[in-house]
Amino acid sequence: MEIKLLSGALGAEIKGIDLKDTSDENFKKINNLLLEHKVIFFRDQPLTTEEHIALGEKFGPLELHAYVKGKESHPEILRIIKGVDEKNQWGENWHSDVSYNQKPTKATILKSIKIPPVGGDTCFSNMELAWETLDENIKNKISNKKAIHSSLGADSFIEKFKQMNGNENKKYKEYSNEHPIVRTHPETGKKILFVNWTFTKNIIGLNQDESDKILKQIFEHQARLDLTCRFTWTENAVAIWDNRSVIHYAISDFYPGRGLGHERIMERVAVEGDQPF
Ligand code: SIN
Repeated sequence: MEIKLLSGALGAEIKGIDLKDTSDENFKKINNLLLEHKVIFFRDQPLTTEEHIALGEKFGPLELHAYVKGKESHPEILRIIKGVDEKNQWGENWHSDVSYNQKPTKATILKSIKIPPVGGDTCFSNMELAWETLDENIKNKISNKKAIHSSLGADSFIEKFKQMNGNENKKYKEYSNEHPIVRTHPETGKKILFVNWTFTKNIIGLNQDESDKILKQIFEHQARLDLTCRFTWTENAVAIWDNRSVIHYAISDFYPGRGLGHERIMERVAVEGDQPF
């Protein structure tokens, strides 16, 4: 096995592991790599839909998305498409998947189907490191507090939900839950900063102004480049991220306004998580 680190913060590209192998021994290796690097990448792994689902199910039961319908034949698989003429794409701001759910996603497995000749990278930021390096004054203010996460957090996501459902006018029901701002990883016991720009709306127990001010400082901190890594996709690549420990951002920089009208197609399965504590 070969492990190439993507940055000093998180992320590793792995060679020598076959993701089709769903033996317990292979899964243990994959899960250990995930816990260590928080996001792991594999190239040239042309998984079938069934193999993609089988890999996801090794981590636990798969999630259905509250807003976006999966494939007709396999509802657990979401197809994420940015069309040639579109500017925006799904996930193009810092977020942790469905953090507004009572039990946010444990792990997400994203496979590339069609990739633009340039652009469309995905960035990840390490939230264990973000907690460790956060300003002490902010830490003291938030360490025992909870925050509200709302599914109607970001306009760009809502617009994309509508397009992916083919229902431009639909009004979406809000899903909202409160979670500790600093959660404990259920497998490693590490502390993790668990808020994100897209879905976290306010800190419970602070007035809105103070909450906005502190959240803005935290969101800026989480986006510090020295906490991140960036993956340039090729077709048939697979990323697996520990959604409890990272936030991520899909960069939409390949749209017609830049003379780069290209399509990007991904398929994703997500694994049900625990209630953060
Ligand atoms: C996502 O945010 O789940 C999708 C990331 C990507 O398409 O790169």
